Amino acid sequence: MANEIQTIGVLTSGGDAPGMNAAIRAVVRETIAKGKKVKGIKRGYAGLLQEEIIDMEAKNVSNTIQQGGTILQTARCMEFTTPEGQQLGAEICRKHGIDGMIVIGGDGSFKGAQKLAALGINTIGIPGTIDLDIACTEYTIGFDTAVNTAMEAIDKVRDTSTSHERCSIIEVMGRGAGYIALWCGIANGAEDILLPEKYDYDEQKLVNNIIANRKRGKKHHIIINAEGVGHSESMAKRIEAATGLETRATILGHMQRGGSPTCKDRVYASIMGAYAVDLLCQGKSNRVVGYRHGDFVDFDIDEALSMKKEIPEYQFQICKNLSV
Ligand code: ADP
Ligand code: F6P
Repeated sequence: MANEIQTIGVLTSGGDAPGMNAAIRAVVRETIAKGKKVKGIKRGYAGLLQEEIIDMEAKNVSNTIQQGGTILQTARCMEFTTPEGQQLGAEICRKHGIDGMIVIGGDGSFKGAQKLAALGINTIGIPGTIDLDIACTEYTIGFDTAVNTAMEAIDKVRDTSTSHERCSIIEVMGRGAGYIALWCGIANGAEDILLPEKYDYDEQKLVNNIIANRKRGKKHHIIINAEGVGHSESMAKRIEAATGLETRATILGHMQRGGSPTCKDRVYASIMGAYAVDLLCQGKSNRVVGYRHGDFVDFDIDEALSMKKEIPEYQFQICKNLSV
């Protein structure tokens, strides 16, 4: 076939996520298994514009599936949001013989992928973000590891919080999305969760809940606060003043983005990487890989980006009901 893909490029973009290496490894090895060439682009779109492009062989990805982070590095790149930057990116792909591109990242990275596809480079997105905030998919690379890391850390804070009979506000990642907070809320049995999608700024309700729980004999009060709500330190001071209970804030921060990926992140990321290569080999472009209702699927990127994701009300209510 005259326009069959010959060389696939792969890059990671936006915030890193544990499991990205498993996806890169799968892209590299699946491409080689199909008898095609594969190139790694360092530092996302920034590296593409700087032509930081390396030939990849099977051995380049050995000993990486268990590593957190991304061996290709990642970056955010303003220049690539401009039409000139995108044009240059597509020209550089052509110059290096890259006729298929796989972009591992979040919604922002997919917008870049959409632009590359429109400029004639067959492009496929793989959802990579610890935030789980991509509407077309129930799974994103890194969420499982991040939420397990956060859960273990919150258990530890809970131990000391109980010993000291304190209230603890634990801030987890998620600037615009409360999925880590929601899942930890259920997994850690938090008394309250604050999510950017649901936050009502009613601090008095929180205070009343803490006081009521203390009267019921609870020795701790765990509030999981998503980064998007934030201000955990000042909130702790106000809550301590209003309840008379010692209150501490703990911000988990970037530790949630690191660490060796869980089995689920390794396996799902591997499947998504291979799936993306298959799509390119079938001549597909402008698609994003997803996981829905127990299956790996793909969507048109335009359609994927137009979907809205909301916090499931049922899960939110369960979290509240179970914490009484
Ligand atoms: P994520 O992919 O995790 O959502 P960002 O939103 O930071 O992360 O996006 C990552 C990169 O994707 C940006 O630095 C930029 O290079 C590229 N990008 C984001 N939005 C666009 C856009 N509208 N058009 C082209 N590229 C974009
Ligand atoms: O990748 C997603 C995320 O971890 C968000 O949860 C968080 O708000 C953001 O990235 C932090 O980004 P940075 O690495 O720029 O601090």
